[in-house]
Amino acid sequence: MQHHDITSGFQQVTQSASEQFFLEFLDRADTLAFVKEAQGHMRTLLDVRPGQRILDVGCGLGHEAQRIARLVGPGGAVVGVDKSAALVAEAQRRSKLLDLPLTFETGDALALDFANNTFDHCRMERVLMFLADASQAIAEMVRVVRPGGHIALFEFDLDAFMINGGDKVLTRRIVHLLADSMPIGQLGRCLPYLLREAGLVEVTSVPLLCEHPFVHFQGVFGGTVSQAVAAGELSQAEADAWWNDLNNAVTTGSFYAAMPGFVVAAQKQGRS
Ligand SMILES: C[S@@+](CC[C@H](N)C(=O)[O-])C[C@H]1O[C@@H](n2cnc3c(N)ncnc32)[C@H](O)[C@@H]1O
Repeated sequence: MQHHDITSGFQQVTQSASEQFFLEFLDRADTLAFVKEAQGHMRTLLDVRPGQRILDVGCGLGHEAQRIARLVGPGGAVVGVDKSAALVAEAQRRSKLLDLPLTFETGDALALDFANNTFDHCRMERVLMFLADASQAIAEMVRVVRPGGHIALFEFDLDAFMINGGDKVLTRRIVHLLADSMPIGQLGRCLPYLLREAGLVEVTSVPLLCEHPFVHFQGVFGGTVSQAVAAGELSQAEADAWWNDLNNAVTTGSFYAAMPGFVVAAQKQGRS
């Protein structure tokens, strides 16, 4: 399998040879147990109801936007926004025949193209960690949600990845390489603070342990390791030894990989 760097890749998924990798990555992620759990918490915390208008920022292929569109029903509306025109086109293709109150459009989380107070609630899942300015993205979500509406986010704390199976010193180096390749590799632990700092109230945080099956783990780390080798930060021999050890660990059943994730939700102050 060819690996691509998810850090730069998810900052710009374009019509390219790597597009298929990111489609498969997102389709597989949507089946993972911790993703399902996080999405369930987000739905509950947002208190999605029929007739509401919901915004999904960085919606990817629109997996969860489709589910929420079923919850808001014909009297409601769900809008999915993503920076990648390729992902938006695929999300539109997949939902075209579903007869749901659902639209997708390209847009930038850092400058949303909506008037103030447009939506009842806003969600963002596994996106903020890729953005150059997390506070600006949160401020934009706060701006477009009505007073009394909610914002829910799900993000990781990549720097706290625990992995069993590879050389432990090398593993620490590689985890740091991945975390440091993100604008905020320790985002999970500061999410509640960022929401409070944005003036939101009733901040709730649900910590999750995000266990990664090996195939998804390879997708997360593959690009980082290849890039580190290309940049001379890791030798090819070190990379090969690391993957070899991990493959052996999978065979013997000792492989384990997980990191903390946080579902954090809060309310915009004021009367609706
Ligand atoms: C890991 S994917 C998550 C996608 C989706 N939320 C899901 O749960 O399947 C990250 C998404 O963020 C999008 N993205 C990255 N930067 C963005 C930006 N500045 N504005 C909007 N979307 C962005 C990417 O195109 C990608 O779809």
